[in-house]
Amino acid sequence: MDLQKLPLFILKPFIFFIFLTLPFLAFLSLQTPRNKTITITTENLPSDLKIRPGYSSYDQYLHRQLNKTLNPKLRQIWTTRDWTRKVNVFSHFFENLKQRQLLFNGSKSLCIGARVGQEVAALKRVGVHDSVGIDLVPYPPLVLKGDFHHQPFDDETFDFEFSNVFDHALYPWKFVGEIERTLKRGGVCVLHVLLSRRADKYSANDLYSVKPLEELFKNSELVEVRSIDGFGLDTEVVFRKNN
Ligand SMILES: C[S@@+](CC[C@H](N)C(=O)[O-])C[C@H]1O[C@@H](n2cnc3c(N)ncnc32)[C@H](O)[C@@H]1O
Repeated sequence: MDLQKLPLFILKPFIFFIFLTLPFLAFLSLQTPRNKTITITTENLPSDLKIRPGYSSYDQYLHRQLNKTLNPKLRQIWTTRDWTRKVNVFSHFFENLKQRQLLFNGSKSLCIGARVGQEVAALKRVGVHDSVGIDLVPYPPLVLKGDFHHQPFDDETFDFEFSNVFDHALYPWKFVGEIERTLKRGGVCVLHVLLSRRADKYSANDLYSVKPLEELFKNSELVEVRSIDGFGLDTEVVFRKNN
């Protein structure tokens, strides 16, 4: 289109409009927060723990996690067809921990990355009533909204913390740091992890041995490591926060 051929009465307001809006758009672009590019310094990480590359921002990481967790069809399955089977398996694990004196009916307990809360329901079923979960997506009343990199709880709140989502942590040192912050002294943390093969595409890190966990849990002692068969995860690791 030849602009010179446009009648002046159309062109003039158009140019005037552009002239007025440009400074406004420039101002807006300065106000809009930019996604920070993620620079994760991995040289201080234990060699048996690798952060998966490719997340350009924390928002992108959250978006990937939410993509699956918010899927309405999957949520329907998790809360119906899957429910009883998963609560049964979790109950079995928690009963076992009670027998080993690592979990008690009076333990104030947290499940980290609990999705729709099957593990919380299992804790309640085995008698640990003061239990709650956190996830990026809440599922009340069992699961509250919370990012495990910044747990929404005060220091020294819980006697017991359970998680089978260590592999979803983009910042494993924050994941563990938050557990150690919110556990009471002498409190117990149980992690179910996968060591023998790589987890799925939603994982943000890969763990190749228990060693990195021992290094990350700076204020705790390793109590037990045992093989398990827990929804694709193969190892149960138990830490106790120092007194
Ligand atoms: C593999 S699912 C496990 C769900 C549940 N523990 C189970 O076994 O049924 C991983 C969960 O971690 C949650 N998640 C991922 N990143 C998270 C974060 N930064 N903070 C809290 N939850 C997160 C996801 O939303 C998802 O529900």
